Amino acid sequence: MARILITSAIPYINGIKHLGNLVGSQLPADLYARYCRARGHEVLFLCATDEHGTPAELAAAKAGKPVADYCAEMWAVQKDLSDGFRLSFDKFGRSSSPQNHALTQHFAGKLAENGLIEEVTEKQVYSNADGRFLPDRYIEGTCPNCGYERARGDQCENCTKQLDPTDLIEPRSAISGSTDLEVRETKHLYLKQRSLRQELSDWIDSKSDWPVLTTSIAKKWLNDGDGLQDRGITRDLDWGIPVKKGDEDWPGMEGKVFYVWFDAPIEYIACAKEWADDRGADDWERWWRTDKGADDVRYVQFMGKDNVPFHTLSFPATIIGSGEPWKLVDYIKSFNYLNYDGGQFSTSQGRGVFMDQALEILPADYWRWWLLSHAPENSDSEFTWENFQASVNKDLADVLGNFVSRVTKFCRSKFGEKVPQGGAWGAEEEALIAKLSDGLKAYEAQLEAIEVRKAANELRALWVLGNEYLQSAAPWSVFKEDPERAAAQIRLALNLIRVYAVLSAPFIPDASARILSAMNTQDTNWPGDMNDALTALTPGHGFTVPNVLFAKISDEDREAWAEKFSGTRD
Ligand code: 2FM
Ligand code: ZN
Repeated sequence: MARILITSAIPYINGIKHLGNLVGSQLPADLYARYCRARGHEVLFLCATDEHGTPAELAAAKAGKPVADYCAEMWAVQKDLSDGFRLSFDKFGRSSSPQNHALTQHFAGKLAENGLIEEVTEKQVYSNADGRFLPDRYIEGTCPNCGYERARGDQCENCTKQLDPTDLIEPRSAISGSTDLEVRETKHLYLKQRSLRQELSDWIDSKSDWPVLTTSIAKKWLNDGDGLQDRGITRDLDWGIPVKKGDEDWPGMEGKVFYVWFDAPIEYIACAKEWADDRGADDWERWWRTDKGADDVRYVQFMGKDNVPFHTLSFPATIIGSGEPWKLVDYIKSFNYLNYDGGQFSTSQGRGVFMDQALEILPADYWRWWLLSHAPENSDSEFTWENFQASVNKDLADVLGNFVSRVTKFCRSKFGEKVPQGGAWGAEEEALIAKLSDGLKAYEAQLEAIEVRKAANELRALWVLGNEYLQSAAPWSVFKEDPERAAAQIRLALNLIRVYAVLSAPFIPDASARILSAMNTQDTNWPGDMNDALTALTPGHGFTVPNVLFAKISDEDREAWAEKFSGTRD
């Protein structure tokens, strides 16, 4: 039994996430967590909301709420949706937690002690009307290059020219529209990442088993052009973690907060403390401190590709730079993007299907199956309603659902609702068991390797084996001549239903639970030996025929949904 720490990139607090976000980190992380638990490993699976930064402040202002209230409400909304998708986090924390405040300030203090923080005075645009400094992208004006009137202070989206806020003609605040702006001096802290370059590079080089997507992005950031830059880790905002050195004030940094990307990954650690504090326990360090038992933990992170630089360079720089024995990640599983019907999913434009909308039209398992079996691993992938319909109808309804339904209904009609006795397995059953054993090994290997799509393919192949057997064994014909032989066939098939429920649980946990309940068993043991697993339900064991496991998606539904989700949400 191993100990496995699993974290999913923590979603921004502002707004409900779309299915592209879900499949890029939380959902595959859940698949892996469920699989590891099913194999008997000790798992700690953490996620949280990422609550700081200007977007959170602006979303709260738009909603007309104090930012703390807004975040508390949105945390509850996101928690509810993650429960709806059956994301089995041991803790869904908050980056605004007191635990994260303390740890973030602790890390900053250690980095300063180790000479890795530099104080830099900069010039920045201040808005008198808004009473705050404005990040570059919150200054708008006319582009000096093309005349576009809504160019942002960092870039003109019309002609793509990179800009400096002072380049803009008639600059104004994007928050209030005020033109009462001035340039003021302000001091910020920089993390001297460049001095950790060699250590980071050696560490990344030591990870020969990482997916190409992860290492290629990490190396690009490490080596390209100016490569690894020292990084500003403070901001002039109200909402965030106040800049302190541990418990002590930081002279000159009054009224400033840490940059959201500095405190967000530290929440992975703080979340473990939140998890322990909830129980009045203090067992979180054994997951995170190598001097307190975490040296035998395997730590796996899940994230979209845009998050890779922060997890391969910035967060490790914080950890290494602290000089303390915190656990570094062992394996980073990153994902490409999921597109939506010929374009991109977009939170800002409300394009695509969002988590709340998805659950309003179909149960979680339908989405989990499609998303995981089409996870954007080797390249971007695309959601289309046709593909979704085909995959649900074929894999879930025709293959798995149909097997369960045919076997249980046939048994009920000929032998009653109990596992029949009599007869014995023959060559056909031996052959099936051999194929199932091989298929199981292949499935396990893909899950161990966190090859999500390939694992889905192997699971589907296992379901297909049952259908093929049923088709060729044809117990409904055999029954007429040799009811005992038909009983042996059906006994095996009923047992295979239980095995399918156990093996499918990481992908489709609700259907798995319904099958187990219909089969009247709590035996969720992962099959070791297939022969044993297929005799777990013994003759006389009662069961019930489950209601339809997966309803097919009709063409009318598909068309209606495609139409409904063709625009943008309000
Ligand atoms: O991209 C995002 O959604 C970020 N909120 C991810 C943060 S992950 C981590 F650093 F905590
Ligand atoms: Zn322009």
